[in-house]
Amino acid sequence: MPTLKVNQADCSCCGECAATCPLRIIRLPDGNFPRFCDDGADRCIICGHCEAVCPSGAITVEDPRLDPTSYPDPQPPIPKEQFARHLRMRRSIRRFSPEPVERETLQELLELMRYAPTGMNCQEVQWLVIYDTAELRRLSGLVVDWMRHVADQAPPGGLKINFEGMIKSWEKGNDPISRKAPHLVLTHARQDLSLGRVDGLIALSYLDLAAPAYGIGSCWAGYFQYACEGWQPLRDALGLPEGDQPIYAMLLGRPAVRYQRPPKRNFANVSWR
Ligand SMILES: Cc1cc2nc3c(=O)[nH]c(=O)nc-3n(C[C@H](O)[C@H](O)[C@H](O)COP(=O)(O)O)c2cc1C
Ligand code: SF4
Ligand code: SF4
Repeated sequence: MPTLKVNQADCSCCGECAATCPLRIIRLPDGNFPRFCDDGADRCIICGHCEAVCPSGAITVEDPRLDPTSYPDPQPPIPKEQFARHLRMRRSIRRFSPEPVERETLQELLELMRYAPTGMNCQEVQWLVIYDTAELRRLSGLVVDWMRHVADQAPPGGLKINFEGMIKSWEKGNDPISRKAPHLVLTHARQDLSLGRVDGLIALSYLDLAAPAYGIGSCWAGYFQYACEGWQPLRDALGLPEGDQPIYAMLLGRPAVRYQRPPKRNFANVSWR
């Protein structure tokens, strides 16, 4: 159960924490120091907004689930030109160096993903890292088996995707499934979490955006994901916990391609009311 700890010497009773709390569960009775309302501790989602907003750092949320590490004061926000450039220059990487990325770098990157938003701050997204490249090739082979199965079952001309071509390409030593990336990560979450899927996708989007800052390229692994959803041999090989759903997979590795400029995009499709 979370608790709120207030350092009274530093608290000016400004009420910012109470005004910012998304659940409105902090009270400052008669100008007194902030505390939870009666059922506040039960309802608190441990989002940390009260702590993050306090001008004097007087309030902390304590809970055994929280990593106690704190980070220094925020720097000014990234200038918009720099951020826009970063977003425009992010690309799906499909040519990777075979060299593995150091585990520590991947771990650091994945720890950053804890700051992705999650519904009700539930933070239930889990990560499976297929770090071993040979294992990733083996799993990609299972995806190809799934393609063979789908192709065998389909009526002539009934396949929307050219699985036959991809199977042939794989048999020639290419890797249209995981692009010879050294690593793959998969987000998963309990099936009964109503927002688990959305949260897992958001976390991967964060990863996709953060990876270039670590010199890492990424690509959403759609075929891998399709196979995960319907091909038992792959599910068995992944060994996700009972009751978990795979959310999506992403390839990771050092890029072996350098883009020189952003591609063109369609016009934005925005309606205003
Ligand atoms: C799928 C999803 C749905 C959310 N829905 C709401 C919502 O209806 N109301 C709200 O106040 N916040 C909503 N949030 C925000 C989360 O509560 C928030 O991400 C979480 O408390 C962590 O806070 P942070 O985003 O500031 O890190 C939602 C977040 C996600 C990812
Ligand atoms: S925001 Fe900080 S200073 Fe203001 S009431 Fe809350 S704990 Fe006190
Ligand atoms: S951690 Fe979030 S929900 Fe809990 S009291 Fe603070 S602001 Fe409110």
